[in-house]
Amino acid sequence: MAQQVYAGGHRVGFAVTTREDRWWVAPVVILLGLSAFVVYTTWAAFQGAHYYFGPYLSPLYSPVIFTYPDAPGAAPVSHAWFGTWPSWWPSFLPASPAFLILIFPGIFRFTCYYYRKAYYRAFAWTPPACMVGPLPRRDYKGETLFLVFQNLHRFGLYPSLLLILILFYDAFSAFFYEGTFGVGVGTGVLLMNACLLAGYTLGCHSFRHIVGGRLNCFSCSGSAGLRYRGWKGITRLNERHQLWAWCSLFWVGFTDFYIRMVSMGVWTDFNTWG
Ligand code: FES
Repeated sequence: MAQQVYAGGHRVGFAVTTREDRWWVAPVVILLGLSAFVVYTTWAAFQGAHYYFGPYLSPLYSPVIFTYPDAPGAAPVSHAWFGTWPSWWPSFLPASPAFLILIFPGIFRFTCYYYRKAYYRAFAWTPPACMVGPLPRRDYKGETLFLVFQNLHRFGLYPSLLLILILFYDAFSAFFYEGTFGVGVGTGVLLMNACLLAGYTLGCHSFRHIVGGRLNCFSCSGSAGLRYRGWKGITRLNERHQLWAWCSLFWVGFTDFYIRMVSMGVWTDFNTWG
């Protein structure tokens, strides 16, 4: 009979556990959810089309740095920060404004402390869940070697905060079509998107540290009261960071999908502009 091996009170071996619950559900759901999001956003970024309709702009393409206005459902030149598509762009890549933007939120999300836990468990199985045996790796060294790039997270925070402001501006602009105030389903979709992404970004561990970290005593410095209130507010968001992460992830994908469907004429946007 095989002898049971124990280490530190735990049974040893890949996926071996004394847990009796369905611990594998979370890693499987995360694997499927993150994979679906990456596949969809990559596909959407390669389209370079149908990301703009009326007053609506897909968050995967915002802000529009350059535009290729001949593409269907593309932003007009007046909406692009630096005008038409540049001639230096490599010909093997589609003229898609998403390529110029997604790198920033992509790095921010990929290096997020919550997502690291999620994909280390779901994709690398190191370990797949608490008290469950990991995939055996002789070379496992934690977040060292090339994984030090995870430290980019604190730097990814700054462009992400700026993007939140831009997304609120996009949501505000979605109330005006050709200078006329109104509201449509897309307006609500864009506003919800900006709010969810703000809840996710403002609950970031790095942001919490910027606002309330490095202080041993909140009552000992002049701005401490303000910082303490900010830190408490961020902590409330931070306590639900996982929930904000998933809701904002789903909604940003759905927002692009909604605008894409409306732009392609598959769905109708009910609005007050007629
Ligand atoms: Fe998740 Fe910073 S820790 S966004």
